[in-house]
Amino acid sequence: MTIGLDDVVAAETALSHVDGEAGRLIIAGHDLEELAGRVAFEDAVAMLWSGLVPNAGGDPRALLGRARARAYAHLAPLAPRLSGLTAVEGMRLLLASLPDAEEDHPALAVGAAGVAASMAVRGSRGLAPVAPDPAAHHAADILRMMRGAPVDAGEAKGLDTYLVTVIDHGLNASTFTARVVASTQAGILSSVVAGLCALKGPLHGGAPGPVLDMLDAIGTVENADAWLDDAMARGERLMGFGHRIYRVRDPRADVLKAAAGRLKGKDNRIAFAEAVEAVALKVLERRKPGRRLDTNMEFYTAILLDALGVPREGFTPLFAAGRTAGWVAHAIEQTRTGRIIRPQSRYVGTWPAEAA
Ligand code: ACO
Repeated sequence: MTIGLDDVVAAETALSHVDGEAGRLIIAGHDLEELAGRVAFEDAVAMLWSGLVPNAGGDPRALLGRARARAYAHLAPLAPRLSGLTAVEGMRLLLASLPDAEEDHPALAVGAAGVAASMAVRGSRGLAPVAPDPAAHHAADILRMMRGAPVDAGEAKGLDTYLVTVIDHGLNASTFTARVVASTQAGILSSVVAGLCALKGPLHGGAPGPVLDMLDAIGTVENADAWLDDAMARGERLMGFGHRIYRVRDPRADVLKAAAGRLKGKDNRIAFAEAVEAVALKVLERRKPGRRLDTNMEFYTAILLDALGVPREGFTPLFAAGRTAGWVAHAIEQTRTGRIIRPQSRYVGTWPAEAA
């Protein structure tokens, strides 16, 4: 019996495939590299939902724009309740408040996730929400609502690339959670809220912040080798390196590195991060020879979102804003099977005493 389900196939999906040995991620029949930075998030959503969501055939940009506007009308009155909450807590409160009875749940959930991420980050800092622009691209609008200031085309493309990159990734913990809830026929919005709850934990959504802490502590490129080597000598793990599934480089790291590279030259730490990455890979090879430890997605997530002016507490909400499209699709796929996910447990407690 496998404890923890590590090698168990718990669902069939046509949505995405993760090949950890080859370092390959396939989303809706396309390699990640064909989509991220090339296809707008709205179009990636339409591709992912093709065959699952009937109205996904309309103009995806207009669909999500309308969804953001409808979500904002519902969520804006809740803004005063965000004060004192972390951004993830605020996002959970907002998404959990959406009524179950809406007809177009799929688009509403994704639109609401973008609005809620922006509102929750602002609310955690005591700032009032900013209304969406239904005519804008989804990524550009999220970033503008979060910042409360205009976003240039390069920055919008940076976030767009990020949202497409995280749209789906096999049966990770939050997606599995969303499928379990969907399997009870609880509906799309409940499945999305459940996915967000699973994402909140530091073992799933939490590495990008520590990547920035590590870069802050290293300080200069000259200091990198000694700092990283000392950390490994103390048995610490280098943040943004290694992965449970990928035994080679995480393909998402490369597309995010390219996206961050397009923002280079501004006042950010992209060039520094690239230099530290090169040193870290040498230190890892020296300290753990033959282990195939390479850069994971979280390293360049941190660099890219930081360069876009997103505060650290906004990293997980933005991940959720992108991943909601995947949670929705998995929830629909699972609901259609009509089968509840109900694994077994092995009892290791004490047995009642036998009757004499
Ligand atoms: N830095 C230094 N050494 C490492 C690192 C790292 N980042 N990752 C793994 N190792 C070492 C382990 O200590 C272990 O060494 P040992 O056998 O001598 O004790 C060896 O490499 C093998 O590690 P695994 O057991 O294969 O790694 P595991 O699958 O358990 O962990 C994990 C994967 C949690 C991602 C790990 O690599 C890690 O902690 N990385 C740093 C945190 C991080 O970047 N998290 C984000 C992950 S990506 C994501 O969530 C989307």
